Amino acid sequence: MSFKSYDAIVVGGGGAGLRTAIEIARDPQLRVAVVSKVYPTRSHTGAAQGGMNAALGNVIPDDNPEAHAFDTIKGSDYLADQDAVFFMTENAPDIIYELDRWGVPFSRLEDGRIAQRPFGGASFPRTVFAADKTGHALLHTLYEQALARDNIDFYNEFFLLDLIRDDKRVKGVSLYDIKNGEVIALAGKAVILATGGFARIYWFRSTNAIGNTGDGQAVAFRNGIPLKDPEFIQFHPTGLAKTGILLSEACRGEGGYLINKEGERFMKRYAPEKMELAPRDMVSRAIEYEIREGRGIGEGARAYIYLDLRHLGEEKINERLPQVRQLAIDFEGVDPVKDPVPIRPTAHYCMGGIYIQDYKTSRTPLEGLYAVGECACVSVHGANRLGGNSLIELLVFGKYCGMAVREYVKNTDMPKITEIEAKRGIDFISELMTRGGKETVAGIRSAMGEITWAKMGIFRDENSLKKAYEELSELLKRWENIPVVDKSKVFNTNLIEVLELRNMLELARAVAFGALYRKESRGGHSREDYPSRDDDRFLKHTVLRREGDKLTIEYEDVRITKIKPSDRNY
Ligand code: FUM
Repeated sequence: MSFKSYDAIVVGGGGAGLRTAIEIARDPQLRVAVVSKVYPTRSHTGAAQGGMNAALGNVIPDDNPEAHAFDTIKGSDYLADQDAVFFMTENAPDIIYELDRWGVPFSRLEDGRIAQRPFGGASFPRTVFAADKTGHALLHTLYEQALARDNIDFYNEFFLLDLIRDDKRVKGVSLYDIKNGEVIALAGKAVILATGGFARIYWFRSTNAIGNTGDGQAVAFRNGIPLKDPEFIQFHPTGLAKTGILLSEACRGEGGYLINKEGERFMKRYAPEKMELAPRDMVSRAIEYEIREGRGIGEGARAYIYLDLRHLGEEKINERLPQVRQLAIDFEGVDPVKDPVPIRPTAHYCMGGIYIQDYKTSRTPLEGLYAVGECACVSVHGANRLGGNSLIELLVFGKYCGMAVREYVKNTDMPKITEIEAKRGIDFISELMTRGGKETVAGIRSAMGEITWAKMGIFRDENSLKKAYEELSELLKRWENIPVVDKSKVFNTNLIEVLELRNMLELARAVAFGALYRKESRGGHSREDYPSRDDDRFLKHTVLRREGDKLTIEYEDVRITKIKPSDRNY
């Protein structure tokens, strides 16, 4: 058997994967593979709407990387590692100017400089944007840059089955070719996981693409790499009421209001200074409190409040929020120019992820294995990410990871993959294709969606989390009894759904476990039985491991360098 070999294999063709691959490929001697489950320009980065943060000071010159770091750390409820945050904010401006030169069509000020809009939790208008299609513009620009480098090969529509590794290091990846059903192995000196988030575990209500199933995190976790802080899930305040589709924070950045059924701007009760531009965890809870107290429109799971953009006027909405307008018309049947839009919080982002040993390189504890973007935890978002900080995170850490990988592979031999190692993926798929059972993907996925939303959602407690953990463990066992009914080889979406469901269940269970043991409320983790932050016991990162079928937790100190934790008022 012969295998293609690469200096570096990047798994994920979104913003994080592409930025990392471009950086590695700057050395023309190196061969890089980019593996993507979807065609790269369909990656979820394309769904990012509102923008990315960098202290350019184009609107208010006083802005600076230190202020950006302060806002990020306060926004994180002091759980972010401060050295990593400063590293990100100091590198952010150069990263934006590089993108400008590469061709991202940023919205501009009158004088031609890059425009910046206000975003939640930020003390200055700091978010650079391309109308409300920033991720789309970024993704296409990065893809062009990657295509222009002839030492990058793309493996589009390949599913990551597993890492190939020995006790000491990673040696490559096992992949399933969705187009023709073949299993292949690629050898690589370095493997970089950049597979995005897993907020799709909240199956019924998420901004995430259907494919955001945490494949990289689950594979790493099964291979003994810990997850850091998995319990911190971000709920974006403004998902469309009926579908959970994202309506960008840019709506509020541009001046939109949130109103309850009495037409009241209720945020004055929860964040009198920042109002609608408080951090997302606070705004999401505020919306849910309004609904609980009967000031929402409708009742129960279908209740909502309004996002009001009417006062912005048609011209501004068309210029700054064209996609928002279209989404509201298409999916809610409401034109924001004329009517307020029904919204409710929706699962959006995973603050935690694959454990990173060193933020400057993004290496994991397994030699040769790296992780970047939402699938990794460096950790700059702590317990709550600020809007606009995810794209900048993947760009900064993608670049530095790429630089580190470039050096690493120069001094590393190409690993040898044995036939036995390569065959494991083939055997796994043939077993899966022939197994029996009476369960269905739809049945187990719906059960998962009910558990995650009701028992480990915006509000949690001991009882709900215990049940969530037990029920998700049971679902994981039942997963073994889902047969792959479709036996075809070409675009077998049935098989892919079975594989994705296992990954989601593994990660959902890890979220429940981490949340159960964190007996405090911090950022996006709101325990009704422990409503306060408890710095004495929990100013710490969760490090969650899987040992066989057992999960274990250790806690690790947060790196606090300059900013002392204090109250978080807005
Ligand atoms: O609301 C938004 O446009 C999303 C931005 C983000 O999650 O950073």
